[in-house]
Amino acid sequence: MKIAVAKGDGIGPEIMEAVLNIFKANQVRLEYEFVDMGKWVFDKGYSNGMTPEAQQSIESLGILFKGPMETPKGKGVKSVNVTARKTWNTYANKRVFQTLHGVDTVFSKAGIPIDITIVRENIEDTYGGIEHMPTHDVALSRRFITRPGSLQVIKYAFEMASKNGSKRITCGHKANIMKITDGLFLEVFYEVAKEYPHLKADDVIVDDLCMKLVSRPQEFDVVVLTNLQGDIVSDLCAGLVGGLGFAPSANIGDHICIFEAVHGTAPDIAGKNIANPTALLLSGIAMLRHLGLMENAATIENSLLYTLESGVHTGDFGDKAKASVNTTEFANAIINNLGKVPEHGARPMLPNKPVTPTIFKLEENPMIMSKDPGNDMIIGVDMFIESSEQPNVVAEKCLLRTGDLFRLVTVSNRGTQVWPKGSVFTNMVNQYCARFESVGNIEVTQTDILELYRRLMADFKICSTELLNMWGDKKAYSLAQGQ
Ligand code: NAI
Repeated sequence: MKIAVAKGDGIGPEIMEAVLNIFKANQVRLEYEFVDMGKWVFDKGYSNGMTPEAQQSIESLGILFKGPMETPKGKGVKSVNVTARKTWNTYANKRVFQTLHGVDTVFSKAGIPIDITIVRENIEDTYGGIEHMPTHDVALSRRFITRPGSLQVIKYAFEMASKNGSKRITCGHKANIMKITDGLFLEVFYEVAKEYPHLKADDVIVDDLCMKLVSRPQEFDVVVLTNLQGDIVSDLCAGLVGGLGFAPSANIGDHICIFEAVHGTAPDIAGKNIANPTALLLSGIAMLRHLGLMENAATIENSLLYTLESGVHTGDFGDKAKASVNTTEFANAIINNLGKVPEHGARPMLPNKPVTPTIFKLEENPMIMSKDPGNDMIIGVDMFIESSEQPNVVAEKCLLRTGDLFRLVTVSNRGTQVWPKGSVFTNMVNQYCARFESVGNIEVTQTDILELYRRLMADFKICSTELLNMWGDKKAYSLAQGQ
């Protein structure tokens, strides 16, 4: 079996070497194709941080084991980590956080066990990085939450929870504020939950979730979240079990999977051979299980747990009274302990049943679509306009251009209504949203909207527009605060 390996930047090559040495000592039957990805590839002029050969290898092998990679700051380039996850549609990011004996935390000292799996949506949300500055004062980010995208990750989370015998699956969200985007994610969560009646499915608002995770982490099992919230909550969970050095991650897709640590390149300790390779090793163990190398995975994990229990530690954790070891020494300790079984949490030894990744030769990009609901219509438009005038002046100018087909429903600024009612205490910026709905909420055409656009152009610079859609009797847009 052959997999692609990218060593990464910063501490990447050091911890990758440590992990591959442990694999070698346990005779893991994998071949590696080392591929060129990371900051040094950006520096060579490849704008997406990988060579075409690297892309081809990963697409033909189906598995990428990667070290952390640096995103060059302020050069307008995108993170190669995010590009890889999005390009290859690894839609589910699974991060397992478990109590590790030998890694002291407030919870381990209090005898509170932690075993939480975060499933983070990995493709959508603000990670699209679609951002604009419509005026000099206003920066905008587009946040995509889609039904098919939510379905993919939520189905994966339920299926995984069901297979692993989990008791509870929780959706973390902010649907009380982001009613349409997080509302859709939550709606899909409960749709999928109906297919898994044996699992207790519930939801918690993300801020409350953070409070509950730090006060009663033992109550959580599987938690599924949108991308950004999942990123933040998973780092919080890493803190519960001892820090980023213990946080593994698997990026799961239908065709390609990427295994990596949650942490970054740790530039402050790079090149010193003192980094903790545990998170990358745990990610590698998850990869071995994914490839059916169950015996290798259990032997190496038991050895890691035994080593941690015996008090061997790198400088970032463990008993400060006991001298720390460096990355190579830590890996050697694990190699020397292969075959030993920890006192706590020993992993069951199952036979290897290697699964060769299915190689997909796609002819065209898959289009994932939920079924068309049918009676959709456009009933209006939100015009985002640049203006530094007062709300009544903006509204008066709009009213003069509204015409017979439309009515001006509301004018808002940063999502808060400032006309026809509002408060003089609402601070404003130089971009308004003027909402026009059709009189009687009848269907309008894009040509009608274009004519309205042309009329408004006489008074305003229009930064952007959003169509107001109606799905049956449901308005597919949010109300302004105070509307
Ligand atoms: P970081 O995770 O690299 O470092 C945060 C802190 O944790 C530092 O003090 C570091 O020394 C420590 N740390 C991290 N991993 C460690 C390990 N294995 N052993 C011991 N200590 C460890 O996060 P930071 O500084 O925000 O990011 C540095 C770079 O890494 C950035 O360019 C960022 O874009 C990139 N990054 C890459 C990721 C990936 O490849 N998946 C994920 C996160 C960040």
